[in-house]
Amino acid sequence: MSILRSLASRDRVFDFLVPVESPVDVRHGPILYLEDVTVSFDGFKAINDLNLTIDDGELRCIIGPNGAGKTTMMDIITGKTRPDSGQVWFGSRHDLLTMNEPEIASLGIGRKFQKPTVFEALTVFENLELAMAADKRILPTLTARINGEIRDRIDEILEIIGLKPLHARPAGILSHGQKQWLEIGMLLMQRPRLLLVDEPVAGMTEQEMERTAELLTGLAGKQSVVVVEHDMGFVRSIARKVTVLHQGSVLAEGSMDQVSSDPRVIEVYLGAEAEEETL
Ligand SMILES: Nc1ncnc2c1ncn2[C@@H]1O[C@H](COP(=O)(O)OP(=O)(O)O)[C@@H](O)[C@H]1O
Ligand SMILES: [Mg+2]
Repeated sequence: MSILRSLASRDRVFDFLVPVESPVDVRHGPILYLEDVTVSFDGFKAINDLNLTIDDGELRCIIGPNGAGKTTMMDIITGKTRPDSGQVWFGSRHDLLTMNEPEIASLGIGRKFQKPTVFEALTVFENLELAMAADKRILPTLTARINGEIRDRIDEILEIIGLKPLHARPAGILSHGQKQWLEIGMLLMQRPRLLLVDEPVAGMTEQEMERTAELLTGLAGKQSVVVVEHDMGFVRSIARKVTVLHQGSVLAEGSMDQVSSDPRVIEVYLGAEAEEETL
């Protein structure tokens, strides 16, 4: 019995009455819109009047020194943290500040945390199958036809993440990089419109980084992708538009060449992270 069927046969695993969310509306504007967003922790403004616009299908890199607010920004978009003020919209229809984390996820916002969280004892294929089970849109009828569609979808994802030859192997045998790709694949199973990826290449080999660059640039266009990353070589290799965060606000925005020659950006990086890699 497939993982999906055995799960479906259990009680209370799925809520069959969840309505299909209305699709994101990007006809007249961006897919993600943050306006004047501020959040304080004990009086300290981790995010301070942040304005950010991501276009549909865009690949955006977010860089900035430690403590700039990058992770907090993702927490706000995904509903984990509520801002004190400001606006956060997904397309023109969905006010994310009125929604909780599961509701925001079900709109099609997928988040990849830094550490891979695949199920090591399950095969690569089963991990992808299980990821599909979280998509409530496919659950009302687990028919043979739907199962065929799921298999096709898994095949398609295996191709995208380059793990087809390993589909029947337990995820536990994968390298660190391969686990990261599998987890991206698990997010893709749910056909996200917006993918948020936090430091995808930390701990990867050069070769894995190159493959990850291909993977992420290949995803752009089909979905919007926001990548937070410290590795400047990697950012340079995938970057179209780059946003530099500093003290919870946008310090600079533009091409990698534009932002890396901006004196304010150079100062922030040299000042805050002189011991780390610079632009
Ligand atoms: N839950 C929290 N409580 C208190 N301070 C926090 C919390 N989350 C983040 N911060 C602080 O907010 C600032 C921004 O953190 P973060 O968003 O993690 O930065 P980045 O991801 O850019 O390194 C840091 O000074 C951090 O210590
Ligand atoms: Mg962070």
